[in-house]
Amino acid sequence: MNLAAVILAAGKGTRMKSKLPKVLHNLCGSPMLSYVLDAVTAAGVDQPVVVVGHGSDQVARQVAGLAQIALQTEQLGTAHALLQAGPFLQNLPGQLLVLGGDTPLIEADTLAGLVRSHRSSGAAATVLTAEMVDPTGYGRVVRGQQGGVCKIVEQKDASPEEKRIREINTGIYCFEVAGLFEALSLVAPINVQGEYYLTDIIEMYVNEGRAVGAVLLKDSTEVTGINDRVQLAEVEQIMRRRLLRDLMKSGVTVVDPASTFVGRKVRVGRDTIIHPFTLIEGSTVIGEDCVIGPGSRLSNTTVGSGVTVQNSIVLDSLIGDNCNIGPFSYLRPETRLGNGVKVGDFVEIKKSLLGAGSKVPHLSYVGDATLGEKVNIGAGTITCNYDGYKKSPTHIGDEAFIGSNTNLVAPVEIGARAVTGAGSTITRNVPADALAVERAKQNVLPGWAARKKEKK
Ligand code: UD1
Ligand code: CA
Repeated sequence: MNLAAVILAAGKGTRMKSKLPKVLHNLCGSPMLSYVLDAVTAAGVDQPVVVVGHGSDQVARQVAGLAQIALQTEQLGTAHALLQAGPFLQNLPGQLLVLGGDTPLIEADTLAGLVRSHRSSGAAATVLTAEMVDPTGYGRVVRGQQGGVCKIVEQKDASPEEKRIREINTGIYCFEVAGLFEALSLVAPINVQGEYYLTDIIEMYVNEGRAVGAVLLKDSTEVTGINDRVQLAEVEQIMRRRLLRDLMKSGVTVVDPASTFVGRKVRVGRDTIIHPFTLIEGSTVIGEDCVIGPGSRLSNTTVGSGVTVQNSIVLDSLIGDNCNIGPFSYLRPETRLGNGVKVGDFVEIKKSLLGAGSKVPHLSYVGDATLGEKVNIGAGTITCNYDGYKKSPTHIGDEAFIGSNTNLVAPVEIGARAVTGAGSTITRNVPADALAVERAKQNVLPGWAARKKEKK
């Protein structure tokens, strides 16, 4: 059976006080609209239509390839918004889901349940409703003596008696497409706000004798709308708990969910342990049996299995299996580590390739460098990759041993198995198997210190 969906997302979101359209604000690293799109798609909709208006270009770019776009140039109300999607749907047989782009907690199962109930009852429209302890601001569901839905009345238009109703309109509906757009074109903006209300359809249908159904949602948190940044943060917390729960159920240990932040696109393998105060963002993929954190941030990074990362930042990088990172490492974009690499404390790596088994254990900067396998970089080594004008590369061959506190002035090449003396400033290439030392001869003056002390 045919199921279509329209997501209303043209509103400005005035209370967000933002340049960014409301539906593009992030929750756990993804725009809130993307959660709604995913839920709709998972409920069985092929190409949802998104109605855009405020920030239409930005919103359209975000959903490109995932949805069709209908433009509402003026925000005249929800009925008017849905009408703009008409050209995409009018001739479709079947059912239409309608929902706002600002309820990202909505679950696919709930939408599918609404559609099921709608289809089995044969209603022309079915409203998803919820009981709210505090229904302020929502449209109220007015029921008749037989218990059927009669109409939906907005907060601003409600009588004192109607305002006491705690069953609210979630703004999520399932409609028969047949007759819907004809009815929408008859909605008039006769209300306190002077808007074309989609909710007027309900009373219209009831008056025409078309059946209207309602599905009462058990857990109303699912339809929490986001209107300001306080609600954004509240929903973020709920979403975060959900994502972490899914991770834990899939076999990942999250030691302290309250201080762990994992984006929704992140994938983590079984038996990996995530310690507190850790952020894992973007398209990061982590293998099995890793220990991540405490106090780490990984962004858009692919991590193999058996890796430890503690108190470190890793951005846009590729980490092989069994690597050991931190504490206090900073791996900047385009870092690639082969298997079994160690990057220790107070080390910065930028745009460099470190071959399998190489070690940079302490206090070093490695930038624009290529290291072969089993290279050892002594403490305090610096690749001098920038001369104030341009960046230059450093190449270090397999099993080379770079003495502590070496300056490698790029461009420079160190051959395989070559050694540099501690404290050397290397400005010329070093052939394979050679030793390069650049260091003033040490002077030793016997008794000098003792004599100085006596004078004083
Ligand atoms: C709407 C419902 C209300 C319900 C509530 C649930 C109406 C008249 N009222 O009220 O019964 O309880 O949602 O959250 O429908 N939009 C457009 N174009 C417009 C106006 C709105 O695309 O011209 C979009 C908004 O971006 C938003 C959604 O429609 O995603 C709902 O609009 P909003 O103004 O938030 O409606 P509410 O007043 O909350
Ligand atoms: Ca709203």
